[in-house]
Amino acid sequence: MERSNINICRDIEELTEAFSQTLVVRILEILKKQPFVNLALSGGSTPQSIFRHLSLRYKDSVEWNKVRFFWGDERCVLPEDKDSNYKLAEENLFRHIEVNLENIFRIKGENDPAREVKNYADLLNATLPEKNGKPAFDIVLLGMGEDGHTASIFPNQMSLMKTKNDVAVATHPISGQKRITLTGNIINNSSNVMFAVAGRKKSKRIKEIFNNKEIAVIYPAYHIKPVEGQLYWFLDQAAASQLNL
Ligand code: 6PG
Repeated sequence: MERSNINICRDIEELTEAFSQTLVVRILEILKKQPFVNLALSGGSTPQSIFRHLSLRYKDSVEWNKVRFFWGDERCVLPEDKDSNYKLAEENLFRHIEVNLENIFRIKGENDPAREVKNYADLLNATLPEKNGKPAFDIVLLGMGEDGHTASIFPNQMSLMKTKNDVAVATHPISGQKRITLTGNIINNSSNVMFAVAGRKKSKRIKEIFNNKEIAVIYPAYHIKPVEGQLYWFLDQAAASQLNL
């Protein structure tokens, strides 16, 4: 894994600032060349501090109404459900910035999963520019689970890394919760992919992903390598504590 793209931060606060600053810089660079930025948000708990920080520290640094918001994945729940990745972004980011509501492209977790997969795939094809014959995001934000999953691509569903489909239904291996997720190939078709990973519980996976590819090949996060784009890892020292760089 190329060293230059790994940012090891003292703690979650430093990771939040470094990640947010890099994201804002990339957004501003892209807006110099095109009228919109197509950004896919991640879910889970780590992004909460990032979204809050963006809405406080970078509220006026970006013309947020020029950012088109998508998601890397969504739980098959109502948008007001505590598990909703949309709710996470709405409460911690959207209600605090000048976002254009027409630029929020929510994955409708309340819909029938198979139908929403088709709806969202059609939306991406209609909305995003094409690169390598597939819709292309400018930036995709990702987290990583302790099991090495990313978005909602889990180690027991590795076919979602290589499928030609852009969007798929996934099932959480423990809870059985249905998810809608971007697949590996569309994530790797992005211009920028940014991981935010914090906490000691993830340090073994991080060590394997960076230091032991023989083991790491079973983890979806290991296979996130943008075909023509930039890959950024933002780790706190706890998550990086077993790394040999
Ligand atoms: C989700 C995310 C998922 C998340 C990881 C890490 O919908 O849950 O897309 O991939 O990024 O599970 O989650 P935490 O940030 O909560 O550790």
